[in-house]
Parts: sequence; C-alpha cells; structure tokens
Amino acid sequence: MLQRAALRVRSKPASPPTARIRRGHRCEFAIVVATAGLWVAAAACGSPAPARPPAPSGASRFAHVPAATRAALEKASPVGAGHAMVVTDQHLATLAGVDILKQGGNAIDAAVAVGYALAVTQPCCGNIGGGGFMTIHLADGRNLFLNFREKAPLKATPGMFLDAKGDVVTGRSTDTYLGVGVPGTVMGLDTALKKYGTMSLRRVMKPAIELARDGFVLAEGDAEILNGRLRELNQYPESARIFGHGGKPWKAGDRLVQAHLAETLEKVARGGTDAFYKGSIAKAIVKASDAHGGILSRKDFASYNVEWKRPVRCEYRGYTILSAPPPSSGGTTMCLALNILEPYPLGDWGYGSVKFVHYFAEAERRAFATRNTYLGDPDFVHIPMRRLLSASYAAELRSTIQPDKATPSSEIKSFLPATEGNNTTHYSVIDRHGNAVAVTYTINFLFGIKQIAGDTGFFLNDEMDDFTAKPGASNGAGLVQGKADEVQPGKRPLSSMTPTVVLKDGKPFLVSGSPGSATIISTTMQSILNVVDFGMNMQQAVDAPHVHMQWYPDVLYVGPGLLTPRSKRQLQAMGYTLEERSLGVLESILVDPKSGMLEGASDPHRSAGLAAGY
Ligand code: GLY
Repeated sequence: MLQRAALRVRSKPASPPTARIRRGHRCEFAIVVATAGLWVAAAACGSPAPARPPAPSGASRFAHVPAATRAALEKASPVGAGHAMVVTDQHLATLAGVDILKQGGNAIDAAVAVGYALAVTQPCCGNIGGGGFMTIHLADGRNLFLNFREKAPLKATPGMFLDAKGDVVTGRSTDTYLGVGVPGTVMGLDTALKKYGTMSLRRVMKPAIELARDGFVLAEGDAEILNGRLRELNQYPESARIFGHGGKPWKAGDRLVQAHLAETLEKVARGGTDAFYKGSIAKAIVKASDAHGGILSRKDFASYNVEWKRPVRCEYRGYTILSAPPPSSGGTTMCLALNILEPYPLGDWGYGSVKFVHYFAEAERRAFATRNTYLGDPDFVHIPMRRLLSASYAAELRSTIQPDKATPSSEIKSFLPATEGNNTTHYSVIDRHGNAVAVTYTINFLFGIKQIAGDTGFFLNDEMDDFTAKPGASNGAGLVQGKADEVQPGKRPLSSMTPTVVLKDGKPFLVSGSPGSATIISTTMQSILNVVDFGMNMQQAVDAPHVHMQWYPDVLYVGPGLLTPRSKRQLQAMGYTLEERSLGVLESILVDPKSGMLEGASDPHRSAGLAAGY
C-alpha cells in the first residue's frame, strides 16, 4: 500500500515550471515507505529557478512537438531535494540507497547498496551475473571510472557463434551458456566500496539480502517485466522454480521471494569477492556451464579483474562531460556527436524541430560509423582516441552534412555495421558532500540467458552477444560491428553503456545514463541537450521523446509523440526512413549550479522506478 504511495509521488500531476520556481526551496512533501524489513523516510523539496536557458518569450519551449506531447511536457516536474538524491528504475532500490545516505553513507556506499538491491528487485537487469561501468566525480575534484565489464572466457574463439558454413547460429550468443561472459559486478561493486566507500560490505548489502530473503511486493512495472519473459523463464527448471509462477502471470501486489539469491548474497557479504570468484558460486556456475555445453572455467573466474581508468572527457558549451571510455563506446560516441553538434544553435532551432532532428541524426550517423569501425576493448585493439575526439575530426565529419538532405548511410565512409543488447539498467546518486556516481550495469538482454546456475539464484548474462559474431552481420540488437570487436579470449565485448557525470565549473551539474543498447548513447546525449540547449527541467528532459540513429540500419528512430505529421513529411522528403519506437529510459539528477538544489527524475517507461532524496 505504502509502496504505491511512493510511486504516486513521482507521477503525481505536476505543476507548471513557473509555479515550481515560485515554490523556492520550501520542503513540499515527505514519503514514508515500508518494504520487507526496510523502512525509509524520504523528504523531497521544491527546487529553485533553473539557471538554464529560459523558454523563448511568449512561446512554449515545446512549440515544435504535437499538442498532446507539449501539454504533458509543460506539466512535467521533477522530484526536488536539498541534500542528496538517488534515482533508479526500481523504487525499493532507490529507497535502499536513500536509506544508506541517511545513515551517513556517501554516494559510493549508496551506489553499491543500490547495485545489490537492484540485483534482487529487478532480476531482469540489475545483477550480480553481469557487469558494467561506474563513473564517479568525487567532491575533492577527482574524476574516476571503474570498468567491471564481463570478459570472454579463456576458451572463447572468434568463430564460436558461427556454423560450419560460416553463418551466425541464431540464439547461441543469447540463449546458451556460450553467451555468458565472466561476470564483473561483484568485483566491481566491492572494489568501488573498498576504495571510496565508508561502510562495510555487510552493511550496504543488508537491504538486498532482506529483500531477497523476505521477498518484496511487486509493483505493476515489476510484474510487467517478469510477464514479458514468463514463457522463456518456464523453460528452465531453476528459473521456473523462482520466477515461473506456475506459468500464471504475475500481478502487482504479489510477493517475490528469492531464498537462493539471499544465500548467495550472504556468502558474498561474508566472504567478499573470493566467495564469488574462488568459492562455491564460481564452482556452481562452471558446473552448470559444463553440463550445458558452455566453456566457462574456474580459471576464468580466478583470473577475472576490474580496472580503474580515466573517464572520457569532452567540453560542450562550457560544461565538462565525463563518461565511459572503451571498452564502452558510450562516452566516445557521445562526445564525438556533441563535438559535431556544438557549433549549431540547437536551442534556437528548438526541441523536436525538423532542423534539430536532422542535424542530430546526421551527427549520430557519423559518430556511430566511427564507433562501429574503430571501437573495441583497448587491451586488444588500438583505438585512435585522440584523433576521434579532436576538433578537426568533428569538423571533417560536420562538413559532410547536407543542410536539407539525409546522407544515405552507405555513403558514410566505413565498412561495418554494429551491435548491442537492450536491457541494461542505469542509476544515479548524489550525496550531501557533492560526490556523484553514475552506474550502468547489465546482463544484456532481459534476464540474460534466462538460466540460473544450480542454486545460485541469479541470472547469467548473455554479454557475448555484444561481440561481433561475424563482421557485417547484425547482432541480437541490430547493430553491425567490425573486427575491432571480434571475440578473443579474455577480451571485453564492446558496450554502449554511458554512465555520465556532467560538471559545471568543476561541480556536478547532471548525473545521467540509460539502458537500451545502442540507444543508450542517443538517450544519454539527449538528456544533456535537453537541459543545456533546451532549458528543460529534469523531468521534462527525461520524459521528452527521443530520437536515435545508429548508422545501420539506415533508419531514423523517433519516440512516439516527438514529431508532428508535418515534420514527419518534411523529414521523409529529405530522405529519411522513419520508424516510431519507444527509445531509451533515463534515471537522472540535475543540480542547480547556483543553489545546489537537486532535481531527480525517474523515467515513466520503467513505471516501478523512483527518484527520492532528502
Ligand atoms: N549489453 C549492452 C551494452 O553493454 O551496451
């Protein structure tokens, strides 16, 4: 009951931005949420006037989009907070993070708590059976990046997803143990906590263990995700026992108990990374892999490592963007596209205008062609990063954009196509000190390979599908990539995950990121453009329909409600093939540079999500 109240807070009818501004810093409401063994109180405050561009006088900043979209966006209002904020796409995980912050933990403590809580409350996507990336800005000014992406098993080979004729075998990289990369999440979270957290592993894992052991009550959005894969989950005995629900659809209000996962998490809380990588958990995964034709070995687990790197960095209109370097393509592709776009007056053209959509699409077409050609795991392939992020390279690509015509992708020099999965999860955290953490982690497709090893209680990833099975052939997510991302033992597959922290004058301004395969890059980039160029508040920037272009297929994807019929006709006349599709999901936090007030926004597309702070 109380859980539902928390959800309503996020989606309650919003007041127009002017009214929001008038409310100033006053605390507006408080929410109290009861979950299995977890009580959290979170107060949210109204936020002050944003220091971003005002709406053009007398006109809506949404003048170019259809009337229904305009009306909804004009009302969208974020959750406000004065000190700290957590935004995730599962409300109990958000509240676990807020609870840690209120106990005095910092943003890293909270991020680790949320990572484990999502592994329980969002079994499709939150995980300990996958991997990811963490971008961190510390209040003392240091900028850090943690790579805990999965690695290919040592027995992996470039042709492992091809048949004798050299054709890609459908499903091998997504639905079998051959699709499993060595998971990195447990080592990643532990490494971040040990280095920059302040609390013990046991303490930050407590909410997750309780949620798994005692169960939690499903919200509608949770039930929807489970029901979307119920048939597949029921094909595998271990998955069926926990998630199959006897084949009956789950509904909001049902309780999901994960006793095996609770035991696994207890082992990790007691034994740390060794329990996972050197103990009974690794043993159980290898045993299941052996039994089902996989190639994972104990050595894969024992030799797995995570690495600290420097985030990719670029400047955009006076803001510093910090994001994911290779083996993610996210930060590099986004910075390249932003570099191409910066000279254009996007704010004057307007959100959703034909001109904006055209130049955005053309910048992305060129940035993705670059991505799919050059990017891979830098431990295995040379990536000319300096050149790709140089002003001269952006200028070269910009000069090929035609003002009134789409460029066919076949005319963009490069040879390959690219790929990725869809069902990642992103969360953002800011603490009262000004530490900011953006985490995107994944098991790739919803529920990964849909299989659980023995009694471990968690789904294993199908991240091997992010490799190029065959240059020129699209992967499960429709990306067509090249040799730079071919499978090699111990290599990390190319990702699109883009956990991003944007700084203004060295202080956090925006923490953002998204799930959604290649669309991650476009969606995250649009969260930046929406606030910087179009002056939207955080909720508007999250709710606003997006656009996406990934070079191949040569299709311009547009979010429902973005384009008017007239704009669609104009873009088609310019040569675009349009496809309407719901794109990306954002879980983001904006900081007002003047007052420090926080605006949090969870994406309504993941309706179980929540922004909360205090
Ligand atoms: N598996 C999705 C990504 O890493 O981009």
